Amino acid sequence: MRMKGKNVLLCVSGGIAVYKAVALVSKLTQAGANVKVIMTDSAKKFVTPLTFQVMSKNDVYFDTFDEKESSVIAHIDLADWADLIIIAPATANVIGKLANGIADDMLTTTYFAATCPVWVAPAMNVHMYDHPAVKRNISRLSEDGCSFIEPSEGYLACGYVGKGRLEEPEKITQLVIEYFESEARK
Ligand SMILES: Cc1cc2nc3c(=O)[nH]c(=O)nc-3n(C[C@H](O)[C@H](O)[C@H](O)COP(=O)(O)O)c2cc1C
Repeated sequence: MRMKGKNVLLCVSGGIAVYKAVALVSKLTQAGANVKVIMTDSAKKFVTPLTFQVMSKNDVYFDTFDEKESSVIAHIDLADWADLIIIAPATANVIGKLANGIADDMLTTTYFAATCPVWVAPAMNVHMYDHPAVKRNISRLSEDGCSFIEPSEGYLACGYVGKGRLEEPEKITQLVIEYFESEARK
């Protein structure tokens, strides 16, 4: 239980790699982290919230206006709860919205309310990843303080081979464990 007591907020946007985000929740929880999940509407087209609910043993959030607890505002409460936010997979769309201050859903609204570190793990078609607008948005987000887990190279679901694969859940979990261990040594 190397991450006991650590709160990880996993923000899932709508790419084919959503299935890997399910494995990521499993790995993080097995390593002792408390995990809560936010999904975009597009992410829900790939995997249902129920899957993430079962894997995380927590409610899954996707509607900014669905205020379950009257004593708190959900997106502020989640942002305050998180020790670390991971956006995985991060679509070109969500990266663009975050880089440009757009907060029009639960994921993006919570991001702007957060003060903890944010890690972004892009996953997309190789040409999307190479697009100047996407590159521009990634460098803007880096300037804003986000860290990036670069996609790896290999066979992509779209049939292309190139850079764009979401980093493997085991690798991301290892990075998270190392991050919390290094924070504990400070
Ligand atoms: C089958 C399929 C796979 C997709 N995979 C990706 C992807 O890997 N990365 C990406 O940036 N967009 C991908 N998209 C496009 C996004 O779903 C689309 O841009 C959507 O508006 C993203 O919404 P969100 O960022 O709010 O989740 C895919 C769409 C489809 C239909």
